[in-house]
Amino acid sequence: MKILVTAGPTREPIDPVRFISNRSSGKMGYSIAAAARQKGHSVILVSGPVAIKPPAGIKLLKVMTARDMLSAVKENVQKCDALVMAAAVSDWRPAVYCRQKLKKTRMPEFIRLKPNPDILMSLARQKGTKIFVGFAAETNDLKAEPLRKLRQKRLDLIVANNVIKSGSGFESDTNRVTFYFAGGEQEELPLMTKEKIARRIVEWIEQKELCRVMSSV
Ligand code: PMT
Repeated sequence: MKILVTAGPTREPIDPVRFISNRSSGKMGYSIAAAARQKGHSVILVSGPVAIKPPAGIKLLKVMTARDMLSAVKENVQKCDALVMAAAVSDWRPAVYCRQKLKKTRMPEFIRLKPNPDILMSLARQKGTKIFVGFAAETNDLKAEPLRKLRQKRLDLIVANNVIKSGSGFESDTNRVTFYFAGGEQEELPLMTKEKIARRIVEWIEQKELCRVMSSV
C-alpha cells in the first residue's frame, strides 16, 4: 500500500524569530511511518519541524506551517491508499505577520489570530475508498469530542489520546489511546509504547484494505 503519514507540530510565525506552535515531538507520527515501512509499504511522511531522525526508506517532506502541510498532503494524497494524520496542526495563526522582529520596547498588547484550514475537513470530499485515520488530542470530553471529529472529518478510525495524563500524548515514548471506529466499535488500549500503537494502527489499515479488496472482487 501507499501510506501518507503526517507528524510533528506546525509553526505559525509571528515575526522572523517568534512563532505559535505546540509540544508535538513527532514521535507518534514517525513511529507510524516506521511501522508502515517495516511492513513493506511505500511511505510519504509530511513532517513539521522535529528533532528526530526519519526512518530509512521513506519519502520525507518537511513543512513549517499548517498551510504548507495542507499543500503537501493535497499534492500527495491522491496517489495514496491511506492517510494517517498524527500531526498536531495549529488551529490558528497570527492574522498579521510582522516582517521585522518586534521590538522588546514595543510589546504588542494582543496578537490577533485567524483560523487555519482544517486539513482533514478539506479532504473529506475527495476521500472515496481511501482509508483516513485521525488522532484526537483531548484534555477532557474523552469520548464525545473524538466521536464528533470522527464523524465531522469522515474518518474510518480516530485514535483518541488524553494529552494531560502522564506517559500519554505529547513528547513521551508511550501513549494511552482509545480507537473509535466509523462502524461504532471502540477499543481501549493500555499504556503502550508509541511503536506498538503504531504497529496496531498499520495492522488495522492492512485489514481494512484487505476487506475492501475482497468485497470488490
Ligand atoms: O508528536 P508526539 O509528541 O509524539 O505527540 C503525539 C500527538 C499527541 C501529537 C498525537 O498523538 C496526536 O494526538 N495528534 C493529533 C493532534 C491534534 O491536532 O489533534 P486535534 O484533536 O486538534 O485534531 C484532530 C485531527 O484533525 C488530527 O488528526 C489532526 O491532525 C487533524 N487536524 C487538526 C487541525 C487542522 N487544522 N487540520 C487537521 O487536519
